[in-house]
Amino acid sequence: MDKAVLEIGAGTGLVSESTMNLFSETHERITGQTDQAEAQGLKRHVSLMQKPEQQGRVPAWVSSIQSTFGKDVYHYVGQDIVIYESIDSYGAVMWPAALALCSFLDNNRDEVNLQGKEVLELGAGTGLVTIVASLLGASVTSTDLPEVLSNLRANVMRNTRKHCRHTPQVEVLSWGYDLERTHPTSIYRYDYILAADVVYHHDFLDELLATMKHFCLPGTTVIWANKVRMENDLTFTGNFKKAFHTSLLAEDGDMKIFMGTCRH
Ligand SMILES: C[S@@+](CC[C@H](N)C(=O)[O-])C[C@H]1O[C@@H](n2cnc3c(N)ncnc32)[C@H](O)[C@@H]1O
Repeated sequence: MDKAVLEIGAGTGLVSESTMNLFSETHERITGQTDQAEAQGLKRHVSLMQKPEQQGRVPAWVSSIQSTFGKDVYHYVGQDIVIYESIDSYGAVMWPAALALCSFLDNNRDEVNLQGKEVLELGAGTGLVTIVASLLGASVTSTDLPEVLSNLRANVMRNTRKHCRHTPQVEVLSWGYDLERTHPTSIYRYDYILAADVVYHHDFLDELLATMKHFCLPGTTVIWANKVRMENDLTFTGNFKKAFHTSLLAEDGDMKIFMGTCRH
């Protein structure tokens, strides 16, 4: 039977589009309880898998995921990684560039060798990139805004305790211009700066670039993965290229992974 559906706060419209395509199938799966795990995984399949599968292919950056309500299990570096999400903020849910970056780091260990390296992650969100970098042997400082830190810390600690040589640190770092006072470069030196999906519609893009520049010293490599969505993102990409010697490490459609080193 046809159902009338009202979506409130439709945003990108993905839910409505998916609902139109999937509603009857979804409904059957859930009410029929033929495969409860599959029904529980629907949210994740809709957000990450449906579009590529509709195109007849799964991009390289999609991890094998078994989803349940409240937590997702990812598999990188030979290990299951359990990530809890919440609805609190942008940083409390997984974004696609995190998956792209984790796949890239896991599959290109010679090109980007993180073993024993000092790594800073900006806008770490749920912590998956920090966890994967730590499992790959890096000493990671994972940073984000204060409101994200408790979930970030729990995810990072749960998945790295007893598995990593270097215990990752989780700290507040708000992008800005005052970093020479709060994070002097004489003390805070990193081999790699990692950032996934930190460029989207927000008011701190100049501060984000200033932060990347602040931490990118001679010998530092910035690896920035982003799904390019809007005009804003292209402007930031142009500014990133002006600020750093830039190369494209990987791309899959609008998913891009850039590498930058400092110009001075
Ligand atoms: C879209 S989320 C991406 C999260 C994670 N990297 C991922 O890919 O799943 C953007 C992240 O940047 C953080 N963020 C946004 N504005 C920030 C700011 N001004 N200073 C520091 N972090 C910020 C958010 O809290 C959030 O965790």
